[in-house]
Amino acid sequence: MAILEVRNLKKNFGDTQVLKGVGFTLEKGEVLAVIGSSGSGKTTLLRCLNFLETPDCGEIIVNGETLFNSDSRSSKSDVEIRKKRLHFGLVFQSFNLFPQYTLLKNVSLAVELLARERGDYKQNKSEILREIGASAREILERVGLSDKLDAYPFQLSGGQQQRVAIARALALKPEILCFDEPTSALDPELTGEVLKVIRGLKSSERTMIVVTHEMEFARNVADKVIFMADGLIEEEGTAEEVFDRPKSQRTKAFFTNYKKS
Ligand SMILES: Nc1ncnc2c1ncn2[C@@H]1O[C@H](COP(=O)(O)OP(=O)(O)OP(=O)(O)O)[C@@H](O)[C@H]1O
Ligand SMILES: [Mg+2]
Repeated sequence: MAILEVRNLKKNFGDTQVLKGVGFTLEKGEVLAVIGSSGSGKTTLLRCLNFLETPDCGEIIVNGETLFNSDSRSSKSDVEIRKKRLHFGLVFQSFNLFPQYTLLKNVSLAVELLARERGDYKQNKSEILREIGASAREILERVGLSDKLDAYPFQLSGGQQQRVAIARALALKPEILCFDEPTSALDPELTGEVLKVIRGLKSSERTMIVVTHEMEFARNVADKVIFMADGLIEEEGTAEEVFDRPKSQRTKAFFTNYKKS
């Protein structure tokens, strides 16, 4: 069974049709790279998947569970929407860390807030918080920041901040981890360290969607590639198919322009 199935997703902003019927499936452990020119709807697609925007039409099914279906829409409470969001993690281009908190707190805060909803929170509070702290330390270690647990975001480089943002997303153990151009706000010399961390996250247990302009990275890390144009999937396939043997003229033109830039 596919871990993610997206069917006929449409989203308008006013009179502008931004997504015009996007559909694809992902298997568990697959990495999907989404490429396409500016304004083609990549960010909007990720925001719809993460329930930061409500699609006008379509279906989103995770692990066989329908999280969104425009045909049977009921007004959802904030709690329900929050629960749906937990299936996905999103790392933005601009890291969006909490400036007033240490790295450790940045990574553990959301998990702590969620734990408060557990029935045994009051009895086992100190044990639960200890476990969350230990897990946050472990994750920060995985992204190469174990020596900076008590630092604040302003004391870090952009690449380090983005690695904290990745750690923060991982801490919530999402089924599908999404990245929206995770390196485009970074100086070129800091891009590599972040891409390396993302590449290192690839495993049979972790499904990822990466919107990126880094074509070499997409080619190396992606199992599947989607090229978006004008709110639609213009072309999709394996990295070899899309990069080496693109069928559509638009995809070919995109690569030609990319090489020139
Ligand atoms: N909140 C919004 N209100 C109105 N229009 C929007 C909104 N968000 C996005 N759009 C429009 O939707 C279109 C697609 O935007 P989107 O950000 O999804 O593109 P993108 O593929 O991520 O582009 P980029 O590569 O520049 O990040 C654009 O024309 C944009 O102006
Ligand atoms: Mg975008």
